[in-house]
Amino acid sequence: MTTKWWQSGVIYQVYPRSFYDNDGDGVGDLNGIAAKLPYLEALGVDAIWISPIFPSPMADFGYDVSNYTGVDPIFGTLDDFRALLAGAHGRGIRVILDYVPNHSSSEHPWFIESRSSRVNDKRDWYIWRDPAPDGGPPNNWRSVFGGSAWTLDPATGQYYYHAFLNEQPDLNWRKPAVREAMFDALRFWLDLGVDGFRIDVIWHLMKDQELRNNPPNQEPRRAKSPYYELLPIYSCDQPEIHELIAAMRALADGYDGDRVLIGEIYLPIDKLITYYGPEGEGIHLPYNFQLIRLPWEARTIAAAVDAYEALLPDFAWPNWVLGNHDKPRIASRAGAAQARVAAMLLITLRGTPTIYYGDELGMRDVPIPPELEQDPFGKNVPGRGLGRDPVRTPMQWSNAAHAGFTTATPWLPVADDYRTFNVESEESDPASMLTLLRRLLALRREQPALHAGAYSSVAASGDVVAYVRKDESSLFLIVLNLGPAPAVFDLPSRELHGRIVLSTFLDRDGEAVNDALSLRGDEGVIVRLG
Ligand code: GLC
Repeated sequence: MTTKWWQSGVIYQVYPRSFYDNDGDGVGDLNGIAAKLPYLEALGVDAIWISPIFPSPMADFGYDVSNYTGVDPIFGTLDDFRALLAGAHGRGIRVILDYVPNHSSSEHPWFIESRSSRVNDKRDWYIWRDPAPDGGPPNNWRSVFGGSAWTLDPATGQYYYHAFLNEQPDLNWRKPAVREAMFDALRFWLDLGVDGFRIDVIWHLMKDQELRNNPPNQEPRRAKSPYYELLPIYSCDQPEIHELIAAMRALADGYDGDRVLIGEIYLPIDKLITYYGPEGEGIHLPYNFQLIRLPWEARTIAAAVDAYEALLPDFAWPNWVLGNHDKPRIASRAGAAQARVAAMLLITLRGTPTIYYGDELGMRDVPIPPELEQDPFGKNVPGRGLGRDPVRTPMQWSNAAHAGFTTATPWLPVADDYRTFNVESEESDPASMLTLLRRLLALRREQPALHAGAYSSVAASGDVVAYVRKDESSLFLIVLNLGPAPAVFDLPSRELHGRIVLSTFLDRDGEAVNDALSLRGDEGVIVRLG
C-alpha cells in the first residue's frame, strides 16, 4: 500500500518554551528548534508539531492568541520561522503548527472591539448573552480551568463565554465572517509552506445554539476536575462541527503536498471516529488519546487497541499518542522500565505515532514548588494535581548547568535527575532509552510492514500484549510484557519461528525464537518471523 507522509511518518511534539533557548532568556525559541534539527533528524522523526508560537499575552502560554498570523517576540520573528521551516524541509522534516480556533486572547483586537459596545460590528464574533434573571451567568456551563465559563463585562452588562480562561473568549463560529477570518489565518501559514495543523480543542468549536444547561455527570470517576461534575454535552461535540471541519479539510486539500489536519479531541472512541467524517472528508487524524487515558494494564490496553482497530472505517488511518503538554508523562505514569515497553508499543502499532519531546529520554514529571507554579489550570484549581508545569520542564540536553537548555534561569526548573537522563549521555550509551527510540524509529522507517502493514492481535494472557504486523514480504511479531515479573509467551503456531530484531533492553539482537519466547519483566521484543 502507498502511504502518505503523515501515515507512515512519526510526529514529534515540540513545546517551544521548553525545547531549546537560543537567545539566553530562559525560554525556548524558534532559533533554538532550528539549532536542534540535526538532533531530530538523527532521532528519525518525520514531522514536528510545534505548540503555539503566535503573539500572545501568554495567559495560557500561547493558547491565547492575539494575532493569528505572526510570531511572538519571545519565540522570534516570522523570518526566524521561515528559516526554521526551510531548515526542517531541507532535512526532510515536515512542520505542523498549532491552530487555536476555539478562542482568541481577550487582547486580540477582535475581542477588544467586540467588548467595546453591544452594537459593535464584531460584537457577535464572540458569544455574548444577557445575565440570567437573577443576574448570574446565562447557563451552568463550566470552564475547563475551573469556575463558571461566563464572565460578566460590567461596561456592557453582558456575559461572554470562555470554555477555558476568561482571557480566552470563545469565538462564534456560527458567524460567517469569523469563519472567513480564521480560514484566512490557515491560508497564511499554508501559503508559507507549513505542512499542516494540530487543531486545538476542535470538538469545542460549535456549541448548542440554545445554550442549554449541561446535565450532571452520574459517573464520579470522571470528576477529578470540577469541570466533569457536569457532562459537557451541550457545550461540546455538536453535530454542526462536522460541516465546519469538512470546510477546513477542503481548504487544506486545495493545497499541494498532502497538508495534514490533526484534531485534539478528548472523546470516547465511538464519538472520536466521527471526526474522520462519514466518508473521510473530516480531519486526517483525530487524536486518539487512549494510551494516555487508560490505566497501564495489559488486558485493558490490548482490548482498547482491538476495539479501536475494529471500529475504524476502512478510510480512516489510526494514530496513537503517549504523552503531550497537558498530561502526565509516560515515565511517571508507568515507570521508567515500562516507558520503554510503551515506546515499543507506540512505534509498532498500526497508525501514526506522536512522541512528546523528552519522552525519548525517559523524562519524568518534575514536581514544581507552589511559588514557581506557572500553569493557570493548576493555579485556578489548586490541590488536585491538575497543574501541567511538571510535564513542560526544559528538555534535557546535557550535563551542563540547566541541562544545557539555557544559560539563564529557565522559565520552569529542570529535573533533578537531568545528569542521568539527557541527550548527550544517552547518545553515547548503547542501552539508553534514546538509543532504543532511534532503533525503533529506524526499524519502523525501513520496514513497510511496520509503517504500513496490517495489524492483527495475537492471543496472550496476564501482563503480556502480543500482535503481528505484516505486509506481502514480511511479518513481525511484537510481544510486550507490561508487568515486572518474567513471562513466557508460547508462540501460537509452529510456523511462527524467527529472530529477535529488537528488545527494549537492546541486548538480544538476532536471538532465535522457537516454540516459546521468554521475556524479562518490563521487556518488549520485536521478532521477525519466517
Ligand atoms: C488544549 C491545549 C491546552 C490548552 C487548551 C486551551 O487542550 O492542549 O494546553 O490549555 O487547549 O487552549
